[in-house]
Amino acid sequence: MTPFRVLGIETSCDESAAAIVENGDTILSNVIASQAEIHARWGGVIPEVASRKHVENLLPVIHSAFEQCGLNWEDIDGIAVTNRPGLVGALLVGVSAAKALAYAYNKPFVGVHHLLGHLYANFLSPNPPDFPFVCLIVSGGHTELLMMKDHNARIRLGHTLDDAAGECFDKCARLMGLPYPGGPNVDRVAIDGDPQAVAFPRAWLGGSYDFSFSGLKTAVSRFLQDDGGKTPLPDVAASFQEAVVETLVRKTIKAAEETGMRSVAVGGGVAANRRLSSQIRLACEEKGLQLVIPPPDLCTDNAAMIAAAGYPRLSKGESDPLSLDTMAVESL
Ligand code: KG4
Ligand code: ZN
Repeated sequence: MTPFRVLGIETSCDESAAAIVENGDTILSNVIASQAEIHARWGGVIPEVASRKHVENLLPVIHSAFEQCGLNWEDIDGIAVTNRPGLVGALLVGVSAAKALAYAYNKPFVGVHHLLGHLYANFLSPNPPDFPFVCLIVSGGHTELLMMKDHNARIRLGHTLDDAAGECFDKCARLMGLPYPGGPNVDRVAIDGDPQAVAFPRAWLGGSYDFSFSGLKTAVSRFLQDDGGKTPLPDVAASFQEAVVETLVRKTIKAAEETGMRSVAVGGGVAANRRLSSQIRLACEEKGLQLVIPPPDLCTDNAAMIAAAGYPRLSKGESDPLSLDTMAVESL
């Protein structure tokens, strides 16, 4: 098979990232410049600051992606760039760079839906999921449960009715006095806690595949006020985390069983959570389901997943026009 190499570019939030992926499944280079430290001062991402940092970081990051694997522009067959959804100013930096490079080097380029990128991180695994499969995508802005019949055929089974799982982690981390980014800090603190210490509520929503996390956030806020610091923080963090993980795992497994899928894939920043990965692994083993979870650095935002998601269209000879737009909101 002749190698088909895609340069991926990702700037939808606060990571400036570039990667080169061969044949949609082999990472040749993967570079990420995180802005997390800059935004930590404010406890969240400041969109205008993120855009300006992308302008500074992106070209050096793309340069490093080439340097890391020793390739040149003549070795690249196409460019894939995140163009939706995300912070529009941030997306514009990546999309403008992709367009300019595509024009200058005469390469095809495609816009990629960021969540499709999280899904395609699973195809970078040595054992990718077998179609058809159920996919849970849990990020800072989205919580989606999908059925993937084929590359082009997906059905949305459920989604969050309010906060995304990552958003809930970040907001509750803040309530617990943990620094930004909240999710990884809850994960770190919860490791020494008892997940059964506090009985936080789970929103089952009558057995539907939808999720709701805003009630949990209120419950954590009320608990912390009433408790006045008596319960050790690791126990609060572990109990909160368990409430999120239990709903994610139960609904995903229920979806796989009820739709007859034999494979489960997970993606998005929250998929880096250690309790989520251990609990979903256990549940899949019990039910004899194939499970794919990308390694933590491919769960959080990166450009290798964008290159992988752009590969099916680019390898078929497709390209988007230079008039391609960015979109702040678009469902998958
Ligand atoms: O996919 P992602 O990197 O960016 C978005 O597309 O939003 O996801 C970021 C989210 C944040 O809410 C972050 O707190 C959460 O993923 N996250 C985690 C962990 N690592 C990142 N949540 C729980 N445990 C983690 N280890
Ligand atoms: Zn993401």
